[in-house]
Amino acid sequence: MIDSASQSAAHQVDLLDLRVVAIEVALGWGIRMKRWMTFTILTGALLMTTLAPLGATPDATPAPAATKKTFGKTPGGQPVDLYVLTNKNGAEASITNFGGALVTLKMPDRNGKLADLILGFDNVDGYVADKSYFGALVGRYGNRIGHAQFVLDGKTYTLAKNNGENTLHGGIKGFNKALWTAKILSTKGGQSLELGYVSKDGEEGFPGNLKVTVIYTLTDANALKIEYSATTDKKTVVNLTNHAYFNLAGQGSGDILGHLLTIQADQFTPVDSGLIPTGELRDLMGTPFDFRKPTAIGARIDQADEQLKLGGGYDHNFVLRMTMDHGESLAARVVEPTSGRVMEVWTTEPGIQFYTGNFLDGKTVGKGGATYPKRNAFCLETQHFPDSPNQSKFPSVVLNPGETYHTVTTYKFSVEK
Ligand code: GLA
Repeated sequence: MIDSASQSAAHQVDLLDLRVVAIEVALGWGIRMKRWMTFTILTGALLMTTLAPLGATPDATPAPAATKKTFGKTPGGQPVDLYVLTNKNGAEASITNFGGALVTLKMPDRNGKLADLILGFDNVDGYVADKSYFGALVGRYGNRIGHAQFVLDGKTYTLAKNNGENTLHGGIKGFNKALWTAKILSTKGGQSLELGYVSKDGEEGFPGNLKVTVIYTLTDANALKIEYSATTDKKTVVNLTNHAYFNLAGQGSGDILGHLLTIQADQFTPVDSGLIPTGELRDLMGTPFDFRKPTAIGARIDQADEQLKLGGGYDHNFVLRMTMDHGESLAARVVEPTSGRVMEVWTTEPGIQFYTGNFLDGKTVGKGGATYPKRNAFCLETQHFPDSPNQSKFPSVVLNPGETYHTVTTYKFSVEK
C-alpha cells in the first residue's frame, strides 16, 4: 500500500518538465538546444527517480514520506484513503482525501503521553453522513453568506441555501463532501500531503472554475501547517478553512470549558439571529468576548449576553490584530491545564471563527465509540469574515483570473509544566 517513493519521483519529474517548458518559452532556443536540454534534464530526472527511493535526492535530506491505507468507499463505490503523517517525536496527523478531512492529530502531554486531540470518525462512512464538518476542508466559502446571494460586477449570483435563508460552508455539497486527489510529498519541512480539487464553474452557484490545492505538513517541531492555494478562470469569491474540532485533553474526554483561551483580537463581528454579521466591528473590551488575557472558555459562556444567546455560546468571528505584514501572525493560544498541552494558531488570515461546539448533541458516535455532546470541543477556524461578499467594509474575498489565492495556517503544539 505504500507508494510514496513513486509518487514523490513523479512529482520531481513533473517539476522538471515544467522547468523545461519555462526555459524554452523564456529564451526561445532552437530545436537542437531544446532537444539537448530535454535529454540532459530527463537524464537527470531518471537519475533522481532511481535515487529517490534511496533518499539520495540532491535536496537536503527529506523526511521519510507519509504512508497510506484504505479508509473505505464512498456511497458511489469510489475507494477512499487515509494518509498518515508522522514525525520524530511520534506525533501523528492523518488525513483522508474524502473532504480533505483531518481525521486524527496525536500530540504529547507534559509526560510525553500521546492523545488524539480532534473529533472525527473511524472510517469514511462517518464523514459521508457528517453534518458538523468534523476536521473537514471547507469551501468554496467558509461560514455564511447572507440570503444565499452576492453581487459581483453588477451581476447577482444565487447560491444553494443550506442554512435557513443563508449559505453555510460552501452550500449543499461543499468541498467537505468532495473526493480530493492526493499526492504524498517528500519535503524538507516534514511529511506532507498535497490535496487537489477543481470546483466547477456554477458549482453551488459560485462563478468560475476554481482550482484548489491544499498542503498539510506535520513538522518535527509538532506543528501542523495547512497551506491553501487557488486560481480561477472567472472573477469569484473564495474563503477556505479547516473545521477541526479540538479537545486538548483528548477527543471524547469531556467538555472544553476549562481550557484557557487567548485571542489576539480587540474587536469581533456581532451577528443577527441568522448568525450573519451586522457589519459592525465591535470593541470587545469588557464583554464576554474579551480573550485578550488567558481566560477559561466556560468562565462567561452562559452570561446573559445578547450575542452569546444568538450563538448558543461562542460562534463568532474575531478581528485579528495581525502583527505581521507578511507571513503568519499569532491568532490564538489555548492551554489545557490538566494535560499541560498548549496549542497556538498562527495564520495569514484576518479573522478567526471561535465556535464552542454549541450544535453538537452527543448523538453522533465518533472515533473509538466516543460520543460528542455539546461543548466537548472548540473550533478556531482561520478565515476572512463571514458574509464578506456582501460587506464592503470587510477585507475583500474576491479572486480574479491571473491571481493566486494563498493563505497559511499553522497549529503549533507544546506543553506547559
Ligand atoms: C461554523 C459555524 C457554526 C456551525 C459550525 C458547523 O463554526 O459558525 O454556526 O454551523 O460551523 O456546525
